[in-house]
Amino acid sequence: MTSKLLASLAAIAVLSIGATMAAPVNYTLPEETAAFKPGPNLDVVQNNCTACHSADYIKTQPQGEKFKKDFWQAEVTKMIKVYGAPIDQVDVGKIVEYLSTTY
Ligand code: HEC
Repeated sequence: MTSKLLASLAAIAVLSIGATMAAPVNYTLPEETAAFKPGPNLDVVQNNCTACHSADYIKTQPQGEKFKKDFWQAEVTKMIKVYGAPIDQVDVGKIVEYLSTTY
C-alpha cells in the first residue's frame, strides 16, 4: 500500500516537473503593413508620429490641393495640443513639409 502511494506521488511529481519545463512558445509577429511613403524629413516623421498610432492615420486622410500645408499644420498642432504628442517645435515645420509634399 505504502509503496503504491509513493509510486503515485512520484508520478505526480514527474508530471508537474514536465509541465513547468514546457518549451517556450516562439512566434513571429506579422510585418507592419502601414508604412510612410519616402519623402523629405522622413526620419523626423518616423521619430515623432509612430508612438501612438500607425502610418495608416496619415494615409487615410483626405488628399488634394485643399489638404496641404494648412491642413497638416493643423493636424500636427492638434497632435501636440489635444493629444499631448511630445514634438519639438523645431521639428513641426519639417513634419509639415514632409506631409504636405508627400500626401
Ligand atoms: C501622443 C500620441 C500621438 C502622437 C505622438 C501622434 N498622434 Fe496622431 N493621433 C493621436 C490620437 C489619440 C488620435 C485620435 C485617435 C482616434 O481618434 O482613434 C490621432 C489621430 C491622428 C490622425 C487622424 C485624424 C485626426 O485628426 O484624428 C492623423 C492624421 C494623425 N493623428 C497624424 C499624426 C501625425 C502626423 C503625427 C506626428 C506629427 C502624430 N499623429 C503623432 C495621438 C498621437
